Amino acid sequence: MSNMTKIIATNKTLDEVAVKYCRVIITEDKLSWHRLVETTDGHLEYRMGAGKRKSINARGFRSLVRSIVQAAKAHQLENIAIHLGMMGCPKLEVMGEEWFFRTLGENLELAQYEFKKYKTGGKKDDYELKEILVCGVSEPAEKQSFSAGLTIGQSANLTRDIANTCGDDLTPTGLAQAAKEALKGTKATVKILNKKAIQAEKMGLLEAVGKGANDEPNLIVIEYWGLEKPTAKTKNNEALKPIALIGKGITYDTGGLNVKPSGFMHEMHMDMTGGATLIGAIQALAKLGVKKNVIAIIPAAENAISADSMRAGDIVTSMSGKTVEILHTDAEGRLVLADAMTYAEKYYQPRVMLDVATLTGASLAALGQFASAIMTKNKALSDTLVKLGEETGDLMWPLPLWDEYKQSLKSYRADISNIATNFARTAGCIEGAAFLSHFAPKKTPWAHIDIAPRMDSIPSDKLAKGATGEPVRLLVKFVEGC
Ligand code: BES
Ligand code: MN
Ligand code: ZN
Repeated sequence: MSNMTKIIATNKTLDEVAVKYCRVIITEDKLSWHRLVETTDGHLEYRMGAGKRKSINARGFRSLVRSIVQAAKAHQLENIAIHLGMMGCPKLEVMGEEWFFRTLGENLELAQYEFKKYKTGGKKDDYELKEILVCGVSEPAEKQSFSAGLTIGQSANLTRDIANTCGDDLTPTGLAQAAKEALKGTKATVKILNKKAIQAEKMGLLEAVGKGANDEPNLIVIEYWGLEKPTAKTKNNEALKPIALIGKGITYDTGGLNVKPSGFMHEMHMDMTGGATLIGAIQALAKLGVKKNVIAIIPAAENAISADSMRAGDIVTSMSGKTVEILHTDAEGRLVLADAMTYAEKYYQPRVMLDVATLTGASLAALGQFASAIMTKNKALSDTLVKLGEETGDLMWPLPLWDEYKQSLKSYRADISNIATNFARTAGCIEGAAFLSHFAPKKTPWAHIDIAPRMDSIPSDKLAKGATGEPVRLLVKFVEGC
C-alpha cells in the first residue's frame, strides 16, 4: 500500500532530466500561486510560489515539500522532477544539511502515501504518481541523509497502514502479526505473551480490558539490541540499559459497557496508533542500524461489549499489586498501559521510559489537532521532546503533571480509580497521566505522550486522510540522541 511512488535521488540538474518529467520550479511568489506551463521545447513545468526565501522555516519547508506532491497529484502528473537545495533560506541553513535532506526524504514519503486497502479501483482511480526524481543530491552525506529520511518516512507509512486498518481485520492477534511482519529480517525480535502468560504475570488490568472480546488480549514485546544485549556482568552499565517505549494497542475501542455515543466510535480502529507507532519506529531504527538498545511494549486488547466485558464498578488488581476501581470502562487505555509499564520496569529496568497513546479526547480540547500533549515531571525530558517535535514535525506541547491532579483519583473502595471519582470532566488529559504516574518507575525519567490530537490528519497537514504516522519521526530522533 505504502510506497507506490518511486522516489529517486540523482545528481542531475533539472535541465538534464528526460522530457517525461514535469519540472517543479520554486519561485518567490506568494504561497498558493502556481502555474502549469508547457515550454517551447515541449516539457511541462510546474511553477509554484513558496514566498520569500528568508521567511521559509522548518515548518514552511515541510509544508512546501508536501504541497509539491499534493499539486502533482491534483494535476495527475505521473513523473515529476524537483530540485530543492537550501535555496538560500537562512532559517533552513541553521538546521543543517543532514536535517534538510532527511526532512526532504521523510516528507516526500509521507506526502505520496495513500491508503487504498479497501478501494476496489476503477477508471477514476487509475491515476498514480509514479515517480519523484530528486535532483541535485550529489554528495555521499546528502544521499545518506536523504535515504535515511525515505526509510523513516516508509516506516511511518507502515504505521499509517496498520492504524488505518479496520478493527475487524486487525485484532490483538493481527497487531502481533503486523509487528512480526514489520520486523522480519531485522535485528529486532518480537515475543508475544498470550492470555495465559498475561494471567501468569498477574496483569489483571490488561486481562480485564480484553475480557469482552472474541480475540484474546496479548502483550507484544519487541527487543532491539542495537548496541549489545546486557549480560549479568554488564547489566549495571548505564549505556546498555534500554530505552523503554510503551504503546497503547487497543485494536478497537467501543468504550465497553460505558459505550461511546454514535459519532464518537467509528474511528476507534485507530486506538492502537501508539502501538503502531512503536512498530514503525523500531522498524526504522533497525533498518538504519541505530546503535541503541530499545524495547517496545504494546499491550494489545479490544475494548468490546459482551456479557464477559469488565463492568463499571469492578475492582481489578494490577500487575503492580495496586487495586483499581473501574469507574468508567471507556478509560481503558490507561489500564493496559499501567500493566505494560510495570512489566517494562520489572524485566528491563530501562534508563528512560516514554508511553505513547491515543489516551483522551480531552487532549484535543486542550491543544486542538495540531500537537500531541506531553506530561512529565522531568523538565529536561519535556524540553527535549518539545525541541525534537519542532525539528521533526511531530509537534508536542507540555501540560503540567502536578501531584494535585492525583487527588481526584482517590477511591474509597480500591487504591485508585481510573477516572475522577466525582465524574468531573476537568483536566481529563492530565488525569490520564496522573493515573499512569502511579505505575511509572520511581527513579527513571518517564514521559506520557497523549497522541490523540494527532491520530487523524487535518487538511493543513497536506497528508492523506486518516492516520498521520506521528510521532515515528520524533521517536527515531529521540532514540538516536538518547
Ligand atoms: N481512545 C479514547 C480516546 C480518544 C478519543 C482518542 C478521541 C482519539 C480520539 C479513550 O480510550 C477514551 O475513551 N477516553 C475517554 C476517557 C474518559 C472516559 C475519562 C475520553 O477521552 O472521553
Ligand atoms: Mn476508551
Ligand atoms: Zn481508547
